[in-house]
Amino acid sequence: MKAKIKTAIPGPRSLELSKLRKDSVSDGHGSVSGVFIDRAEGSNLIDVDGNIFIDYAGGIGTMNVGHSHSLVLAAIKDQVEKFIHPCFTVAPYELYVTLARRLSQLVPISAECKAAFFNSGAEAVENAVKISKSFTGRNSVLVFSHAFHGRTQMTMSMTYKEDPYKKGFGPFISNIHRVEFPEKELDLKSLEIDPRSIACAVIEPVAGEGGFMPVSFDAMRQLRDFCDEHDIIMVADEVQTGFGRTGSLFAMSQFGVEPDMFTLAKSIAGGLPLSGVVGRSDIMDSVHVGGIGGTFGGNPVACAAALAVLDIMENEKLPQRAIEIGEKIRTMVEGVMSSSPWVSEVRGLGAMQGIVITDKNNGPDKKHTSRIYQNAMKNGLMMITAGTYGNVIRTLMPLTIKNDELDQSLEILSNALRVP
Ligand SMILES: Cc1ncc(COP(=O)(O)O)c(C=O)c1O
Repeated sequence: MKAKIKTAIPGPRSLELSKLRKDSVSDGHGSVSGVFIDRAEGSNLIDVDGNIFIDYAGGIGTMNVGHSHSLVLAAIKDQVEKFIHPCFTVAPYELYVTLARRLSQLVPISAECKAAFFNSGAEAVENAVKISKSFTGRNSVLVFSHAFHGRTQMTMSMTYKEDPYKKGFGPFISNIHRVEFPEKELDLKSLEIDPRSIACAVIEPVAGEGGFMPVSFDAMRQLRDFCDEHDIIMVADEVQTGFGRTGSLFAMSQFGVEPDMFTLAKSIAGGLPLSGVVGRSDIMDSVHVGGIGGTFGGNPVACAAALAVLDIMENEKLPQRAIEIGEKIRTMVEGVMSSSPWVSEVRGLGAMQGIVITDKNNGPDKKHTSRIYQNAMKNGLMMITAGTYGNVIRTLMPLTIKNDELDQSLEILSNALRVP
């Protein structure tokens, strides 16, 4: 469906709901748009006032197969009829095992792999760290500037941006060591510990919340060499880059190096809460029985949805589609740059493109980014921004977006990018 806006944004019903929300929902849980959603379908969000948006946020990257995909709905309905939650720790079920097997075969690691499932991206990262500690007998973690790994105590400590993610929540976990994000080269000059005390290095192949910045291919190779030299587990955090977003099922296959472990979440289950750690079997098996798990991890309804997502990725060739989408975005943005000097860069991989907005002195311009966002919203494009300095517009649209929707959305975005 094309975008269609009938009211001021937010519309009257959304404004009413915002008032109710104010009375009953914690102020600490923000929402970037004040628009309340009534329905979602494919690449569209339809709000409670009947406005139709094209969705460039995709539930912050959870909707790569699109909203309410018929195969995901069918898998969910079918599973709900059978059972909802016996809890894998109590009474296991085949779906969990089938999903573990499929993902273990799909991740770009040539060694035998195994998987374990959790609920959120943060939990996956947290467990990847636990497993790495278990395997190596070490307790330090290497992370990068601009990293985002989640909001639990461990993953918040690994995350870079102070406000809003860490402000007032210290003290943070010690033994987390940070070096510069390797956009060009891996620079370990600031590393002040013995590399042989590091259990794992955790890296996003494209920094997500940090501003859609890809790691250079050279730097990824250097990190792999560093990990090999010091027997450090290399963890690719593909929570945001995974499931076709960057032009391959997992971004790491474009870098020509194999990590030892993957953390996966977001688009894994078509919008249901599920996450996973998939990695070399020898590493995954190093934890004592009961050392990892959780009540809801690998919920069967979410596992059924995840199996449908893998079928859709393959049948609809969504990773290839991500490349086409990315090329269209880049062509549009490059066309706008000459007349809009504040659009200083477009960067990313596949359909994970970041558009960087800067001021006259080439510094990050968060206010201008916000004006562009508002203009796009009122014309029917729901977006989100990213970046340590809040000056990057990011694209996380469903990869199932139709050509006429993509063309219309790019027109809305190009007009918004021209707003001074
Ligand atoms: C790369 C990465 N890791 C981890 C997380 C945390 O995921 P969740 O919000 O599901 O805990 C995110 C979320 O944005 C992410 O982008």
